[in-house]
Formats: sequence, C-alpha cells, structure tokens
Amino acid sequence: MVDTNDTTMFEPQFEAMPQDQLRALQEERLVEMVRYAYENVPMYRTRFDQQGLKPDDIRGLDDLHKIPFTVKDDLRDHYPYGILAVPREEVIRFHASSGTTGKPTVVAYTRKDLHTWSRLMARTYASGGTTPSDIVQNIYGYGLFTGGLGFHYGAEELGATVLPTSTGNTKKQLMLMKDLQTTVVACTPSYALFLSEAAIEEGYDPQRDFALRIGMFGAEPWSEEARHKIQAVLGIKAYDCYGMSELYGPGVAVECSEQNGLHIAADEFLVETIDPESGEVLPPGQQGELVFTMLTREAMPLLRYRTRDLARITWDPCPCGRTTPRIMRITGRDDDMLIVGGVNVFPSQIEEVLLSLRELGDQYEIVVDRDILDKLSVRVEVAQGVDPSSEEVARKVAEHLTAVLSIRANVELLPPGTIERSLGKAKRVIDLRKEG
Ligand code: DLL
Repeated sequence: MVDTNDTTMFEPQFEAMPQDQLRALQEERLVEMVRYAYENVPMYRTRFDQQGLKPDDIRGLDDLHKIPFTVKDDLRDHYPYGILAVPREEVIRFHASSGTTGKPTVVAYTRKDLHTWSRLMARTYASGGTTPSDIVQNIYGYGLFTGGLGFHYGAEELGATVLPTSTGNTKKQLMLMKDLQTTVVACTPSYALFLSEAAIEEGYDPQRDFALRIGMFGAEPWSEEARHKIQAVLGIKAYDCYGMSELYGPGVAVECSEQNGLHIAADEFLVETIDPESGEVLPPGQQGELVFTMLTREAMPLLRYRTRDLARITWDPCPCGRTTPRIMRITGRDDDMLIVGGVNVFPSQIEEVLLSLRELGDQYEIVVDRDILDKLSVRVEVAQGVDPSSEEVARKVAEHLTAVLSIRANVELLPPGTIERSLGKAKRVIDLRKEG
C-alpha cells in the first residue's frame, strides 16, 4: 500500500539547511574548488590562463558565469583517464558511460569520492522512505554503468539489505521478489513497466504476492503516465532519480514523498540553467539546459559541466522540509529532440500520449525516416485483448498524437510482446535519417 507519510532525511544538516547557510556553504566550496581544479587539472589551468582568469577572480556565486563551460567532448579528448586531478594510484575505481558513438567516457573516483557518492545514494533511498529495515532488490546493471554499484553501496550505507540481482532473468527476479519479500525495487522505469507486465503474465498478483512499497527509478526519461501505471500495478510509490556518470552517477537529485520535483544535493552540486544555444544563464523557473559544478569531487572535478538535459529549476520551499532547489522533471535531452519536417518533437511527448490510452500497452518505438519529406512512425503494442488490426484504435492514436505534436504520425499497432524489451535504458527512437 502507498504510505505517504514515510519520508526521512539521511543528512538533514545538509538537506534541510537554511537557504542562506546553504548558499554560504556553496560559495565557500566553489572558491576552494576553483583553486583546486586550477592547481591540479592542466586542462582548467590552460583554459583559465587563456582567458586571463585567475582563481582569485572567483570570489563567490556571482562570479560563476566567468568560468568557461566543460563539455562531454573535453572528457573524450582526455580519454582514457579523463581529467584527473590526482595521481592515478589514488583512483580506486573507474566507471564508464555508454556513449552511443565512439569511445566511452571514463570517470574516476578516490576513496573519499566513493564515500561521498554512497552518502548521496543513502539520501536518495531515504528520500523515498527507505529505512534500514528494507530489503532492496537492485536490478540496475552492475559493471561500468554507475546504476548498479551506485544503488548497491547507497543501500549498504543506509544500512538496508541489498539483493544484487543486476539486470536480466525476469522470471528469477519475480521469484526472488516474492520469496525474499523485497520491499524496495531499483531499476530503469522502462524495465519497471516490463516487470509489472511480466508479473501479471507469470500469474502473480503483485499486491498480494509481493511486499514491495517503494520503487527507485531513473537513468532515462519517463512520464507521469508511466509512473501511474507502475504504481497501480505494483502497489508502490515510484520515485524519479537523476544523475550521470560524470557527476558520480545516480544521487545528484531525487524526488521526495511529494513526488513534485527532484531535490538536488546542493551541498555537493551547484546548478545553473542556460540557454542551450547562446549559453546565457537563465533565471530560476525558466526551462533550459542543466549545468552542474561539483563542489567537493577529488578525482575528477568538473566546473560548469553541460549535461544537455533540459529542465526547469525551482528554489521554492517544499512541504517535505528540504530546502534544496528542485529539478521539475527532465523533459528530455537537447540531443534527443527530433526535428521532423521542421517541427520539434520530444519522445517524452509521444510517451505521454501512448501511455494515457487504455487500448495500448507500454512498449513502443518511434521511427523517423525520409522519402522526400520526413516521416514519423509510431509502432506501439496494443493492450491485452485489443485487436491490433483495429483501424478505429489506430485512428484514435494518430489523432491524439497529432493534437499534441502538431504533425501527422503513421501509427502501426502491434500484438503484445512484439517489441524487444530492454533490461537497462530503453532505446525508443530509431532515426533512419542518421543511419541511412
Ligand atoms: O544514467 C546514472 C543513473 C543511474 C541515474 C541510475 C539514475 C539511476 P549515465 O549513463 O551517464 O548515468 O546517463 C546520464 O541519463 O544525462 C540523462 O540524460 C539521463 N537520465 C538519468 N536519470 C534520468 C532521469 C546514469 N531521472 C543521462 N530522467 C543523463 C531523465 C535521466 N533522464
């Protein structure tokens, strides 16, 4: 059952710090971090010197805009060891992000970094109401991806019990979920949708057979509709978790019991929103690209790191008592926005429409192609019991899509189970214009 009164803070001294004190702490840490990065990372020293900028010029938050941006290509250019600020021997772990093209991005951690990350992950769990009495089934992939080990060590730091199942073998996941009566599940939201569907297919009654109460989902965009489906089938509260390998991994921001925006760990990360085209800093409340500055990272500090993720930030007080700024749901990435016949289309808009229609299942694919003009096709599975050859259903889906997207989409209905399920991040978009 959904329990709404379940939020505790792992480190209230930071999570609920009065905002003026939080700002002062950020300021102090920023000044130190800029000096540290200048003295220890040749790339930052060169950049500052080229601009005639000295660490002393950064005296506080108002000077932040003077610092040049860091982008993913800076890490690629420094492959494989990234932008190390410490001797390699002090690095006790590497992770790597799954780049879609070319070499992955390698990220490094000192012992202190790993401890900071575990604390951030313990906060993440606690924010959703997880306590040391919980049993966490961690279905994020263990390995180079930061999801598996991040959620693993965070659960241990909190003192909960971890069941490190990693990805795959859905039947076994369900069996263990029932037999061990796991109470918290951590995985990507697309896998959570699949798991809900598979549970029913395997003959489980999730709310009777499982003891689940919390889901910690992230690593990819998902919609409110997806949340409602997962919560309704599994009988849990589903929380959005955000992060990226370059910023430790998960643990950067997470929802609280209000499920209304993701609280940023603001003692560890400074956030800005910028206009992705001009790079101009936007006031809080305006939608833009998120840019983060790490405030205590030892092995690989990043200053003004451009994430390409688009969202809006608010500093408004939250009823949960946390004082930190919130990300109002990631709407997509700057680079996964599709331009179809000159119209901007976000895959998340399509997901919202599809998951809101009762006639449809949860799995879909977006295909963009070009004959003479761009063509947008949506391939989507129907719900159990719905005829995939129904023209009426196809027409209804097409009409709903056109109303939201302002362009026409071809709709192809498929029988349930046709589209390949992802274990980690779902690949929903196939852009044949790029591949052709
Ligand atoms: O996905 C870290 C992570 C693991 C986060 C588990 C949450 C849970 P990367 O593989 O480096 O790291 O991918 C980072 O994934 O820039 C976003 O575009 C996307 N992303 C991550 N979390 C969310 C989210 C991990 N909650 C990239 N909503 C980021 C939307 C997300 N997009």
